[in-house]
Amino acid sequence: MMTEREYIQRIPIEHRKKYAQFFTPEPISDFMATWVLDGKEGKVNVLEPAFGLGVFSRSMHKINPEIRVMGYDSDKIIYAYANDNFDSSRYDIRICNENYLTASWTEKFDSIICNPPYLKFHDYDNATLVPMVNGKLHTHLNGFTNIYTLFLLKSIFQLNNNGRLAYVIPSEFLNADYGVEVKRALLQSGVLRHIIIVDFTQCAFDDALTTACILLCENNGDSDAIHFSNITDVSKLNTSLTDYKTFTPDQLDPAVKWKHYYETSKSSSFTHLVPFSTFAKVSRGIATGANDYFTFKASKIDKYGIPENSFRRCICHAADVRNLVFTDADFENVVNLDKTVFLFDGCANEDNPHVQNYLKLGEKSGADKKYLTASRNPWYALENRHPSPIWVSVFNRNGLRFVRNQAGVYNLTTFHCVYNVGEIDTDILFAYLVTSVAKEIFLDNSRQYGNGLVKFEPNDLNKGNVVDLRLLSEEERTFVLRVSDIFQYGSETCNQAVSILDDFFRTKFTGGAIDLLSYFKRLNRLSVKGSKVQNVKVKAKRIKQLSFYELYDQYAENPITENYMVHETVNWEDNSFSDHMQVDLSKNVLISLVKPDNVEQYLDRSAKIYYTGKRFPSTVALNELYYFMPYIKRKGIRDIYLIKVARVGTRKEGQQDNDPNDFRLVFEIEFVKQLFKDFKPTELKIWRTFTDTTLRGLLAESDCGTPLHKRPVCAESK
Ligand SMILES: C[S@@+](CC[C@H](N)C(=O)[O-])C[C@H]1O[C@@H](n2cnc3c(N)ncnc32)[C@H](O)[C@@H]1O
Repeated sequence: MMTEREYIQRIPIEHRKKYAQFFTPEPISDFMATWVLDGKEGKVNVLEPAFGLGVFSRSMHKINPEIRVMGYDSDKIIYAYANDNFDSSRYDIRICNENYLTASWTEKFDSIICNPPYLKFHDYDNATLVPMVNGKLHTHLNGFTNIYTLFLLKSIFQLNNNGRLAYVIPSEFLNADYGVEVKRALLQSGVLRHIIIVDFTQCAFDDALTTACILLCENNGDSDAIHFSNITDVSKLNTSLTDYKTFTPDQLDPAVKWKHYYETSKSSSFTHLVPFSTFAKVSRGIATGANDYFTFKASKIDKYGIPENSFRRCICHAADVRNLVFTDADFENVVNLDKTVFLFDGCANEDNPHVQNYLKLGEKSGADKKYLTASRNPWYALENRHPSPIWVSVFNRNGLRFVRNQAGVYNLTTFHCVYNVGEIDTDILFAYLVTSVAKEIFLDNSRQYGNGLVKFEPNDLNKGNVVDLRLLSEEERTFVLRVSDIFQYGSETCNQAVSILDDFFRTKFTGGAIDLLSYFKRLNRLSVKGSKVQNVKVKAKRIKQLSFYELYDQYAENPITENYMVHETVNWEDNSFSDHMQVDLSKNVLISLVKPDNVEQYLDRSAKIYYTGKRFPSTVALNELYYFMPYIKRKGIRDIYLIKVARVGTRKEGQQDNDPNDFRLVFEIEFVKQLFKDFKPTELKIWRTFTDTTLRGLLAESDCGTPLHKRPVCAESK
């Protein structure tokens, strides 16, 4: 017998996910089996639409060994194991390796039991299956319907008179837009008896990110009572059949979230609530359809040499936003940390050759054929969406998170956009939204997932309620704005400001009396103590990469700089460390780390050519390149070379496997002298690879503490 545990160990997660193979824990299976068999004895006709390894058949068999089961599973692999599990001499079970939805609709059953696959609309053939189910049942399910609801409605259709059905499914449909039609169909069927919500904090299915509900139905005349219960522990399942809230079918409105029927409302204690749409419109952030292709870090921009006006400043990951307020300085910060905060706008600069190259790359990699890009014209056009003054995070363990976007940057779908419709000042609106009053009231309109995750689609927020901010007096608005000024202060002060606002809105909108003077006093005490926020430590300004392509466009193989004339001032023959040698202190020197396989030629001073790596800092003044000092790992610097010529070339010039597009900066160099008696460690200041300085600067730094007679002797050239 192949158990679910062994199956999970043997079959890769990708396969299990493709067929939505999450298995029902035995206590839930036993409970559902008891409901569907309803004490019936003998040859009960049972349907298992999503058989898996047959946990339900095992549970039912323990209760009634004579059951006759018809099972379906569309996956060949699990089907083969399931067939082996149920030996025909002991079990009356027939399993078909077929799609349940396209299999017979005419057969009826006394008991139907199922944990159907959970597949979102894009993961199954919704274009065929949804219209097919609508055609059979005269429903109006929309294309976004999850496959589990199709299973449910088909099964209800196949239920015999006096038959019973038990389904364990995600409770999402009870509170989601696509669930409205499902709930309508369920109510119309007249078979619904119990909805048992398995508590959100404990996932019934360990590895599925959903919260479950068990639907118990019975086809024995239209129901006049539908019972809702919540259980916090699987072992308490049986109490759900005795301890519940009851509604008549006409009391249940399919168009509203059904959590109102089984959860205590969080907002009932507040007065003067209005829809959030009175003040704002929430829409989702920009969906690119191919984030890897469209989003850039600053270093990726450098790499492709695409001009900056082809990019929009854009937050791609909520984690890059840390504070309540996101400012230009915060944006600078994340750029310097080389975070992905740019969005490629292929239409902004279409004639630029680097943009064209990148677009070609997109076509080569298939970025143009993704679900969203394929339907756009041109495929690289971005959605036309303005930066919003407020963002709200989509998926959060700690409830809603609002951010004031003072930097005016765009955002991907990691945040929803909150646009002010003009009824109230944006800062007043924001000051309210960050309070727990706002969060509590919004929670009534959320969807919840397993393990306490809360999700809000834009419409959940648009339809959610807020306190009527128009009822604030002039003085109260001034107060709220004064408190919101504190949002730019350190997090501790900021938290205190939010809690003052929280207290204020809670009192005001639960009918309490507002003593504004005492609130101002609390605020003043806070401002005195506060200190202006120190943004995340701003790192040294990011040094960009030089674009070798642009350089090649400009110079081809011609020298960028040539320094032959200096031969006259340097005694090239004298390689010894001696006081009479002269070097030009005012000239630039570039210290560069040399690759380990080239070290020999620098130790014996025979090196004639130096190739940079693929990256070279754009800050080095190329026309002033003059001296070169090799930095040898674990040793440091010692010798100085003249850069006779700097030009663009390739790493493997003249060799057979030379890639003509692998551009590098090439220095033709010549040993000048030994500048230090021994190798000297020094700091490589750019990317731990280069230091760009003058000879005077280098000596000033390295001579500190070096006795005069030991210093190299240099003379300034005129
Ligand atoms: C959530 S699992 C439940 C398995 C088992 N009944 C249990 O409760 O442990 C759903 C099962 O349905 C199967 N399945 C997925 N799509 C199907 C389809 N269209 N028709 C029939 N079975 C399907 C999967 O292979 C998987 O075994």
